[in-house]
Amino acid sequence: METNVVKVKLWGMDVGYLSWDSAARLAVFEYEPLFLEQGLDIAPLTMSIHSPRSRKQIPWTGDTDKLYQGLPPMIADSLPDKWGNSLFKAWLRDNHISTKKATPVDHLSFIGSRAMGALEYEPAQKLGGHSAFSVDVQRLYDFAKQVLNEREATVLNQENSILWQDLVKISSSPGGKRPKAIVALNEITGDVISGQGIIPEGFQYYILKYDDHSAYPFAKLEYVYYQMALDAGIRMMPSKLKTYGGVTHFLTQRFDRNGNDKIHTQTLAAMSPLSNSYEEIFAVIRRLNLPYEDSRQQYLRMAFNVIARNVDDHSKNFSFCMNRDGAWRLSPAYDLTYSVDLTAPVYSNRHSLTVNGKDEDITREDLETIGLKNDIQDYKTLINKVANAVTHFEVYAKELDLDEKLIDSIKADFIKV
Ligand SMILES: Nc1ncnc2c1ncn2[C@@H]1O[C@H](COP(=O)(O)OP(=O)(O)OP(=O)(O)O)[C@@H](O)[C@H]1O
Ligand SMILES: [Mg+2]
Repeated sequence: METNVVKVKLWGMDVGYLSWDSAARLAVFEYEPLFLEQGLDIAPLTMSIHSPRSRKQIPWTGDTDKLYQGLPPMIADSLPDKWGNSLFKAWLRDNHISTKKATPVDHLSFIGSRAMGALEYEPAQKLGGHSAFSVDVQRLYDFAKQVLNEREATVLNQENSILWQDLVKISSSPGGKRPKAIVALNEITGDVISGQGIIPEGFQYYILKYDDHSAYPFAKLEYVYYQMALDAGIRMMPSKLKTYGGVTHFLTQRFDRNGNDKIHTQTLAAMSPLSNSYEEIFAVIRRLNLPYEDSRQQYLRMAFNVIARNVDDHSKNFSFCMNRDGAWRLSPAYDLTYSVDLTAPVYSNRHSLTVNGKDEDITREDLETIGLKNDIQDYKTLINKVANAVTHFEVYAKELDLDEKLIDSIKADFIKV
């Protein structure tokens, strides 16, 4: 592919230029001087527009940590994770491009205007027609599974080549390890169309997280957790379960879209690289001068993840959003679910972010210490509120006919506070 330079764009403005240094295997980024005058601090803690480096037009070099693939963290956030990467590799193979030669800058150029958040990349790889097409969720799901399973050798024939193009268009940009699709949903008619490009009146952008239809009810469990989180007062985007061809999937409305408007979004991993504790999220909230409500929200989310055992609380599962005035806020919560692997040894089920220095056996005392140290006014009440919401687990799980044994083992795993 060998795209050496891409232009980074936001809301129609040129943000800057990103090039790939093949020898150093690092990207180099430079702000467009006119963008610096807009007052939009899109990476305030890593590449601030106010820093002398940006002002003096000294290039910013990428981050060598594997998580960022040699890109500046703000930009690495536009690349997908495991699932999107495997689709990109399959796409390269299909286009007879060596996967070894493709650089992260090539990948951004492939993503073009399909990235999560609001950043866009030019030149973009054209994937044909920008108009929304109707999505046959069941067929696409079956095909996605096939692509995943066969990896190296999905045979593209006339029949599935359209499906393949559709899959690449709607599935290759979102992050995370689980397969998903970017769709738009019409609440009234139930119609599902592709969620790339401009969507018609009456539709809203959603992420569809495929259930893999194994013995483990991923989608339903995530929906149970969504309901408990709302009961706890945690802010989340409207989410729902939908069944196609007998398989129930989880859909969540996108917080980085408002109608056809894009909202600039950064994960914690991008905003504050190397953060690996909840304390550091509170520190970021303070550094960004966010309102008290965001600290309170973050406290509820921490208590929820601890009590309900969402140990998959890594730095890409927290985000921040910036509006067109350049004001930052904590994003709605997402990816909340029971994430302990009951078949794995205990030591492998540790929290990704630490609480009071601990990644396991976290107690009420630890939660209280964090509340006290971060000026959370009513932290004891907030812990109780979360604990109470988590007692609704059994009712919600039974409503969805989850297996009784699974319900019992999850319930028994909750942290008593
Ligand atoms: N409602 C949403 N609106 C906008 N972006 C979202 C939303 N939900 C998730 N995302 C983004 O998409 C990414 C993947 O989603 P999610 O974390 O739900 O998937 P996952 O495959 O379960 O992830 P993981 O790898 O953590 O298990 C998130 O890291 C986040 O950046
Ligand atoms: Mg996630």
